[in-house]
Amino acid sequence: MKGIILAGGLGTRLHPLTKVTNKHLLPVYDKPMIYYPIQSMINAGIRDILIVTGGNNAGDFLKLLGNGSDFGLEHINYTYQDGEGGIAEALGLAKYFAGKDRICVVLGDNIIEKNFIAAAEAFGKQESGARILLKEVPDPERFGVPVLEGERVVKIEEKPADPKSNYAVTGIYMYDNTVFDIISKLKPSDRGELEITDVNNAYIERGDLAWDVLEGWWTDAGTFESLIRANSLVAETGANRTD
Ligand code: DAU
Repeated sequence: MKGIILAGGLGTRLHPLTKVTNKHLLPVYDKPMIYYPIQSMINAGIRDILIVTGGNNAGDFLKLLGNGSDFGLEHINYTYQDGEGGIAEALGLAKYFAGKDRICVVLGDNIIEKNFIAAAEAFGKQESGARILLKEVPDPERFGVPVLEGERVVKIEEKPADPKSNYAVTGIYMYDNTVFDIISKLKPSDRGELEITDVNNAYIERGDLAWDVLEGWWTDAGTFESLIRANSLVAETGANRTD
């Protein structure tokens, strides 16, 4: 399975912090934000990694990460997203990197306490489809929220005013290679983006989306509140633990 880290977008919710620098280069405790999703991938056993970046200071990713020697890698792949067309648009840019393989996607502002090795192994046993990770949160209206019927996710609603569960769909997704056909048929949402939630709903319609609950804390870091929370959580317990 190949890994794709999405670090595009303009990070406007963090202005003026992101006026001249890229959100994923901002510090989270003692490391730049982008270090955490890279380590999450590696801990899940994925070493063939593409970083999709965009916006400001894209060249600084090369300066910072080079070929990945800080992570014990020999090579990192990079590509560039113009503008802010959405998570699914950024993922579409990974088609040529993915080739015929399955992919794991981690959003560049998602940080986890532990790891998702078990989910990656479970996805390896799936014949086809997608696998997502859910986490209970106090503020589901900020995220993609699953509508559950028993053990089945019947739909995902993006930032619903009236969330139907207390779960967020985290920014860790695993897809078979048909994801690129799904993306090619997407239409922009009301906020003008190609939505990852629409991709996941397409798999639900096919009856081919599995899910797990992520262990340990999970946070995004794309707003002032979540960025400070991410800093405190990492300082208090450390991130990307494999024990
Ligand atoms: O964090 C999990 C949530 O991420 C999910 O629950 C939502 O369903 C999903 O839509 C997303 O929500 P956000 O609105 O918080 O995503 P945001 O626009 O902050 O983008 C998250 C990351 O995705 C960002 O750090 C970089 C990448 N991205 C985003 C956009 C809009 C791109 O690479 N390109 C883009 O155009």
